[in-house]
Amino acid sequence: MSKYDNRWHTVMVNVEGGIAWITLNRPEKRNAMSPTLNREMRDVLETVEQDPEAQVLVLTGAGTAWTAGMDLKEYFREVDGGPEILQEKIRRDASEWQWKLLRMYSKPTIAMVNGWCFGGGFSPLVACDLAICADEATFGLSEINWGIPPGNLVSKAMADTVGHRQSLYYIMTGNTFNGQKAAEMGLVNKSVPLSQLREEVTLLAQDLLNKNPVILRAAKHGFKRCRELTWEQSEDYLYAKLDQAQLRDPEHGREQGLKQFLDDKSIKPGLQAYKR
Ligand code: COA
Repeated sequence: MSKYDNRWHTVMVNVEGGIAWITLNRPEKRNAMSPTLNREMRDVLETVEQDPEAQVLVLTGAGTAWTAGMDLKEYFREVDGGPEILQEKIRRDASEWQWKLLRMYSKPTIAMVNGWCFGGGFSPLVACDLAICADEATFGLSEINWGIPPGNLVSKAMADTVGHRQSLYYIMTGNTFNGQKAAEMGLVNKSVPLSQLREEVTLLAQDLLNKNPVILRAAKHGFKRCRELTWEQSEDYLYAKLDQAQLRDPEHGREQGLKQFLDDKSIKPGLQAYKR
């Protein structure tokens, strides 16, 4: 029994041992991202962010899919021909969670790709900080196969993660690739057999749970922002982030780390985190 049972129709949320397992839950539609799912995911992310029990977020899918991408029926066909202004809201709800909220989320995020991952699914995949997939997962930029260029921020996500040649090859052919290829391309951190996926993700999440959350946030935001800044801007931004993190950190991690290494000689920070 989870405190979030039945709160959302298309997403399941279960918080266990500091980890928020967020499961896209339309297995009969391969977790295609419908307007309802997009609206609910905005609320899910906002809710979990304020839940002190949830320290690390894992995004996965029910059944055989992570997500089959945007819902071709409910997100495209049923919106076509409706009021033009409705497109704005439908697109905003999608962008809002798939990359805006998720990319700069205040807690660490891991995509756990258990199966099919197509098209629009690449935005949340890349927006998560880390990603682990099953060898058996199948990825594809299938838009070309049904007559559109990649939508939303999919091309941007590819350009930001994978090299030029690989990106264009998959965007232009729509050919699929498996989990091991996704890892080789750097689209995910690691690919493991499906039977080991949950355990592998749990270990990674537990590793993050041992780190200082305020500093984790500053570190990931700093990295993501400075990709798009000049060196001079990056210097200003990253130092501002560093000072902000220290000022905000209620556990004074820096002082603890320095003390445990220099005075107590109880840790080697090159090899382990300071004891919280
Ligand atoms: N949008 C809407 N519905 C989708 C969907 C999508 N992206 N992907 C799957 N579904 C629906 C199917 O229409 C079907 O619904 P039905 O049972 O009412 O007919 C159901 O999910 C199961 O799909 P099915 O194709 O039978 O499953 P499968 O396991 O044989 O194949 C996929 C899985 C993912 C390979 C296949 O569903 C597919 O190619 N989906 C489209 C992927 C895509 O191009 N996404 C990009 C969108 S931007």
